[in-house]
Amino acid sequence: MKGTVKVNDVIGRISKHIYGHFQEHLGRGIYDGIWVGKDSEIDHIDGIRTDVLKALQALHIPVLRWPGGCFADEYHWANGVGDLSERKPMVNTHWGGTVESNAFGTHEFMALCELLECEPYICGNVGSGSVQELADWVEYMTFPKGTPMSDWRIQNGKQEPWQLTYVGVGNESWGCGGNMTPEYYADLYKRYQTYVREFAGQRIYKIACGANSNDVNWTKVLMERAAQWMDGLSLHYYTVPGTWEKKGSATEFDEDEWFITLKKAYEMERLVEDHGEIMDRYDPDKRIGMIIDEWGTWYDPEPGTNPGFLYQQNTLRDALVAALHFHIFHRHCERIHMANIAQTVNVLQAMVLTKDEKMLLTPTYHVFHMFQVHQEEDALEVEFVSPPYERKGEKIPQVSVSASRSSGKMHISYCHLNPHEQTEISLAIEGIDEQTKVTGRVLTADRMNAHNTFDEPHSVQPKDFQQMTVKSGELTVELPPMSVVMITVDLA
Ligand code: AHR
Repeated sequence: MKGTVKVNDVIGRISKHIYGHFQEHLGRGIYDGIWVGKDSEIDHIDGIRTDVLKALQALHIPVLRWPGGCFADEYHWANGVGDLSERKPMVNTHWGGTVESNAFGTHEFMALCELLECEPYICGNVGSGSVQELADWVEYMTFPKGTPMSDWRIQNGKQEPWQLTYVGVGNESWGCGGNMTPEYYADLYKRYQTYVREFAGQRIYKIACGANSNDVNWTKVLMERAAQWMDGLSLHYYTVPGTWEKKGSATEFDEDEWFITLKKAYEMERLVEDHGEIMDRYDPDKRIGMIIDEWGTWYDPEPGTNPGFLYQQNTLRDALVAALHFHIFHRHCERIHMANIAQTVNVLQAMVLTKDEKMLLTPTYHVFHMFQVHQEEDALEVEFVSPPYERKGEKIPQVSVSASRSSGKMHISYCHLNPHEQTEISLAIEGIDEQTKVTGRVLTADRMNAHNTFDEPHSVQPKDFQQMTVKSGELTVELPPMSVVMITVDLA
């Protein structure tokens, strides 16, 4: 198979925010997964578990969305600040009906972001919260001093305001966030965002709640009525192999399910194009960012776990789903400003799973780690037609390729979906020859459902890769079956 990396044909800059994250108060995502509390015997920094923190620091997470998800629209931030013993608990109605202690609130979240050196993305409560409540939250976080909210923050131990970069106005307002029509939400969006004030030189990027997968009418109405007041418009799409009632197992699947999952992951490209086309009609200069602030696989919960906790294992299949999504986001990077995988720890397509004091890194984690080199690089056009991967009369491209470059390096990632055979792929690349230094990493396994467990945490992990050759103007790579490969070409 042959193709060309068009070294001078830049699609756009890959925003690092495409590698963003999302963590909701859901199941064991925050509590256990990130926050163990200041009295825990598990090693921690001010209540944040050290092993998870270190793992996430290595990913250089650019942005973290919080506190939900559906949870955001019943979260009342004021109950989550101040003395721990006085924080008011609440029922987490969406996720298992558990009692939320509010031990992890604004200060703890901001401390986490500081430790991760990432930007905070706060999702405001529109479904059951008031305009005043959101305005107060922004004032609490960002006003220097001398107002009731800023002085309350100072009294609670934070002298200087935080830098707040992203604010979302509601979550899934068409569903768990209030079951609204787009027309009604567009009006509410305009009203709520008005009072998201920018104090003391802060610049807040305001994100309107966007559509559920195929609902292009939602995008149309929002763009028609509220485009001038937004910086970003979101989109949610989950890769569910089966139906919402019977999604399929995270680990027990056959090749049919492998195929359908990857086919559904490719669907993201059509959605980005469909919603992007509508955004283009109202915003031809692409000022407004598409914010895919929930994406990833969603399977049946692991047997024996609380179904409301959305805890699922993560296999090589998830690694391929993640890599395919990044390739799609790169191809559309001139419109997509941010994407946030759902979710970071112990929930859905997680980076990290924990069990008491144990932690493991998932295959998805390894893709995020391998792919971080694409962040803030120029995405290049890749001209190539993949042979099909066929199953029961249906076809999807067997190989996906994405290339990016910075001043001294080019990174080419490959996603190979066929679980049975190797595929050789040669790419014409102007300027390389036998002397060019080329290195590689591969993530693969001998089974489609290979995954890491607490007893065997390193079964699936990246390894050095050498199955490539360079000759004048051409790079040839022998892709192992079901693999993700990252090649670095030294242009210096
Ligand atoms: O990520 C889990 C849930 O999926 C989120 O809370 C919600 O926004 C979406 O439906």
